Amino acid sequence: KTDQSGTGKVNDRKVKKLDGYVGFANLPNQVYRKAVKKGFEFTLMVVGRSGLGKSTLINTMFLADIYGKEHPGPSLRVGKTVRVETNRCMLKEKGVNLSLTVVDTPGFGDAVDNSDCWQPVLEYIESRYEEYLNAESRVNRKVQHDSRVHCCLYFLESNSHGMTPLDVEFMQRLHDKVNIIPIISKADTMTPDEVTEYKKQILKEIAQHKIKIYDFPDSDKDEDRENLKKLKARVPFAVVGSTEVHEVDGKKVRGRKYPWGLVEVENLDHCDFVALRNMLLRTHLQDLKEVTSNVHYENFRFRKLACFSADGPKGMTKNPLAQMEDEKRDHDAKLKKMETEMEQVFEMKVKEKKQKLKDSEIALQQKNEQMLKRLESEASELDERRRQLELEIRDWESSSGISLDELRRRSLERETT
Ligand code: GTP
Repeated sequence: KTDQSGTGKVNDRKVKKLDGYVGFANLPNQVYRKAVKKGFEFTLMVVGRSGLGKSTLINTMFLADIYGKEHPGPSLRVGKTVRVETNRCMLKEKGVNLSLTVVDTPGFGDAVDNSDCWQPVLEYIESRYEEYLNAESRVNRKVQHDSRVHCCLYFLESNSHGMTPLDVEFMQRLHDKVNIIPIISKADTMTPDEVTEYKKQILKEIAQHKIKIYDFPDSDKDEDRENLKKLKARVPFAVVGSTEVHEVDGKKVRGRKYPWGLVEVENLDHCDFVALRNMLLRTHLQDLKEVTSNVHYENFRFRKLACFSADGPKGMTKNPLAQMEDEKRDHDAKLKKMETEMEQVFEMKVKEKKQKLKDSEIALQQKNEQMLKRLESEASELDERRRQLELEIRDWESSSGISLDELRRRSLERETT
């Protein structure tokens, strides 16, 4: 489009009709082929107390033994400290590869004091962001793996009156770090009315504590909007997990068999399992990844870089310019300190010298005074002796009848003759 208005703005809203097939309509196929060739990566985290059915649900969801044979099961877990374990596997469906990583947190909520048990989970999530940020910041920016946690299924206990303080604390600590989807496990142990009441209570508490759980994006299409509404109405998802297969009217179904009947895992009238699985794998997987990347990771990156440019947190090297500035400041401070120390020493030496001069001045003065006194006494002694001598001369003159001057004259005449 040419700019005829002279404003520099080009009207690109108006769609121009093409006379024939140009070829760019094939662009989505190009993207599709490239994406299929590359494969997809998804990291799903499951958090909740031991025995809530986390591994069963994951195995049911992916129709595979994701945890493997070595998974010890609830009663056989050793230790009560929270650990973070990852299970990675490659899944293939109709030629599409999905590299799935399931992050489990055994020991979560199992200790007597669970006050800090969200900490290892938070550290794990942030360490994955850090890893990604480091890979992105290299000269060669090619990020090999996206191991960021894209979704966290938080398991709430069934048959409870509401969220526990730990549930609230965990969600509050992590809601701005990861997409949290609350799950009510073992929904088959509750009646439908109990499930409805429990869901209401949980949503009320989530709102009360200002917790932000994963928010489904709006859609332009009416049909999608309708489905989205139904999906949202099922949150928190009340699920049943089972890897057992039973036969119902000649059809094989997954479920849990009880004396009074069969709870079908994939029946939306029985539980929300299918809604959760569809949402996670069919409709919102990409959005979960995008929210992780554009919101949670960006927040992390911003926090990290903001720290980086200011003071630099522990364990992170500083911005070289800031580092140089700091070193210069340190150097200047050292110089200043040395200068004041030298000034102090100099002042001390001057003081000492002055004192010495003063002392020697006093000593000299005392010596002078002593000398003066001695001279004065010597002078008065001499005066006394002179006076004695004059008296003696006068006595002799009067006794001899001749003056001293006369005597001197006679002796002078004698010498000349
Ligand atoms: P840890 O491995 O200790 O972390 O436990 P987990 O949360 O992975 O639980 P797991 O899947 O091992 O299940 C614990 C027990 O609950 C097993 O005996 C399961 O058969 C049972 N279970 C799993 N899901 C359900 C469910 O939806 N309903 C009922 N009633 N039981 C379930």
